[in-house]
Amino acid sequence: MGKDVIIACDFSSGEKTLEFLDRFKGRKPFVKIGMELYYAEGPSIVEKIKNRGHKIFLDLKLHDIPNTVNKAMSVLSRLDVDMTNLHASGGSQMMKAALEGLTRPDGSRPILIAVTQLTSTDSATLRDELLIETPMAETVKRYAENAKNSGLDGVVCSPLEAEAVHGYCGAKFLTVTPGVRFTDGDIGDQKRVMTPAEAKKAGSDYIVVGRPITAAEDPVAAYERCVKDFVD
Ligand code: C5P
Repeated sequence: MGKDVIIACDFSSGEKTLEFLDRFKGRKPFVKIGMELYYAEGPSIVEKIKNRGHKIFLDLKLHDIPNTVNKAMSVLSRLDVDMTNLHASGGSQMMKAALEGLTRPDGSRPILIAVTQLTSTDSATLRDELLIETPMAETVKRYAENAKNSGLDGVVCSPLEAEAVHGYCGAKFLTVTPGVRFTDGDIGDQKRVMTPAEAKKAGSDYIVVGRPITAAEDPVAAYERCVKDFVD
């Protein structure tokens, strides 16, 4: 799979999402469906968007005992999404169980990536609440290595970490990176950001872009700008 721009469709309803996607008459964007939309609409929203010809990243970040995650992933495998994810903090056994559950009878499966540390977790939370004394960068490295050794395809990380992840997990290990902003845009609540062109240079494999596209005056133009800067 080549580089691509994934639009984070963080809308509260299927209706709003489909209305938004109706604008895209040319290239069909890769779409990220998160918990809000999936819990509001259920699996049917995945089928509807898939039937319109979009690739789908189902961002549900599973984290439970290996058996439960295995069973949940085998249900999700029937939805024909292109990418899904889990929390690496669930451990290697859980990640291996997830991969097994996600693999369809014909051997095919969606791309499976792991969240290392959420970007909302800072060093103080790690140390004071989770009682993890190891520095953040080292935990991210170890979690990414655990994901790789469990057979996963990549991790969600900041574009600022993409180069390091490729350094220790190899060039083929995918980096899927949110935190993307245009230089002339609003950064909102994201703290560490890169432009699409910088993310490309840093080696990101997929950029996940939400508000710079969804809240733009002309979302199609904003998407095309991302594609031009990141993919072309
Ligand atoms: O609107 P924005 O471009 O900030 O959207 C980024 C998307 O990526 C959102 O759906 C957000 O939940 C997700 N995300 C993130 N940082 C992470 C993991 C996921 O921003 N570490």
